[in-house]
Amino acid sequence: MAPQLRVFVPPHPLVKHWLGVARDVNTPSALFRTAMTELGRWLTYEAAREWLPTFDTQVETPLAPCPATFVNPEVPMMIIPILRAGLALMEGAQSVLPLASVYHVGYVRNEETLEASCYLNKLPSSLSPETRVLISEPMLATGGTMMTAMADLVERGIQPGNVRIVAIVAAPVALKKLAEAYPELTIYTAMIDEGLNENGYIVPGLGDAGDRTFGT
Ligand code: URA
Repeated sequence: MAPQLRVFVPPHPLVKHWLGVARDVNTPSALFRTAMTELGRWLTYEAAREWLPTFDTQVETPLAPCPATFVNPEVPMMIIPILRAGLALMEGAQSVLPLASVYHVGYVRNEETLEASCYLNKLPSSLSPETRVLISEPMLATGGTMMTAMADLVERGIQPGNVRIVAIVAAPVALKKLAEAYPELTIYTAMIDEGLNENGYIVPGLGDAGDRTFGT
């Protein structure tokens, strides 16, 4: 059977709580950052299921030998925050994946055409196909930025099936675009919202995630 994009919306009270805090227009920037950190933490925790490479071995407890499973440090693991707003999820994501390397990429959206263009790309020129990649991008709106980021990763050897996207809010148009281009992808999001307004903002969404994180 052909692969189909998988989108998970974890039904966890903490995810719901912090999403509510992030959505609220009256939430000040400092608390908004806390909400983003917590959402980054819990969505990354969920995304690590069936994705984090492990190996089985045996340890000695104080009482007896016992089977044990550990995270495999030999499989490369990376987190890619998409600047700027992707940085907001990093503290939480790194608390779950302390062994992951972090590579930054930056895309800017043309506010008229909504097309994304790259202004920073710190990705290595080639990557092992088994590399596990977690992309941190709070808002999957038009999907344009993520499509560009995915093309940059695939060009370097990454397999879409080894990628997890962590997004706070996703719009159906972005999910459709990604499903058509990269059906092997898996996305973890706190909510799928109704759609976009004429400026490409997610409605109801949470506003400009970068501005609210950095108080700009
Ligand atoms: N980027 C944001 O920060 N918010 C949106 O709603 C869409 C894109």
